[in-house]
Amino acid sequence: MSTPNIILTGFMGTGKTTVGKLLARRLQRPFTDTDALIVERDGRSIADIFAQDGEAAFRTWERTIALELAQQQGLIIATGGRLMLDDVNAEALAASGHVFCLTAVPDTILARVKDDEKRPLLNVPNPAEQIAQLLAMRREGYGSFPQISTDGKTAVQVADEIFLAVGG
Ligand code: S3P
Repeated sequence: MSTPNIILTGFMGTGKTTVGKLLARRLQRPFTDTDALIVERDGRSIADIFAQDGEAAFRTWERTIALELAQQQGLIIATGGRLMLDDVNAEALAASGHVFCLTAVPDTILARVKDDEKRPLLNVPNPAEQIAQLLAMRREGYGSFPQISTDGKTAVQVADEIFLAVGG
């Protein structure tokens, strides 16, 4: 019988990668992170892909990786913050397993991503305003997936919650 993937989505700074790694260890399953895969394949950082080729080129990379991972089984997948808001990506990956959306309030997100230059979308003069705007635009999309709040919780607690939700 096939083993469903577990796919983590949610805004930047909600802990998808940290929680995904913990969950993978707990379930003894392989972990993969779509941002890391893109960097590995392209050979440039995400910031450089955005700066040199534009956001659309990065989104094309996301599509390639999403369709590829959807063909595999038993993975714990941390996705980039917008990957699952694309209908084609979401349909393919959702068909391959269970999707969970990690959430956090804007203040928590800001505190977690502050001083991190890896995220070109938040590398702006007023990241707080940018977070609020992006969250508002994405609210409906994220809302279509089962939500797991991460505010005031450790990554271990969040991983435990997902572990239980998938039947341990
Ligand atoms: C993005 C989120 C980032 C990365 C890219 C764009 C987004 O991933 O894919 O910078 O549009 O939300 P994380 O959510 O892992 O930071």
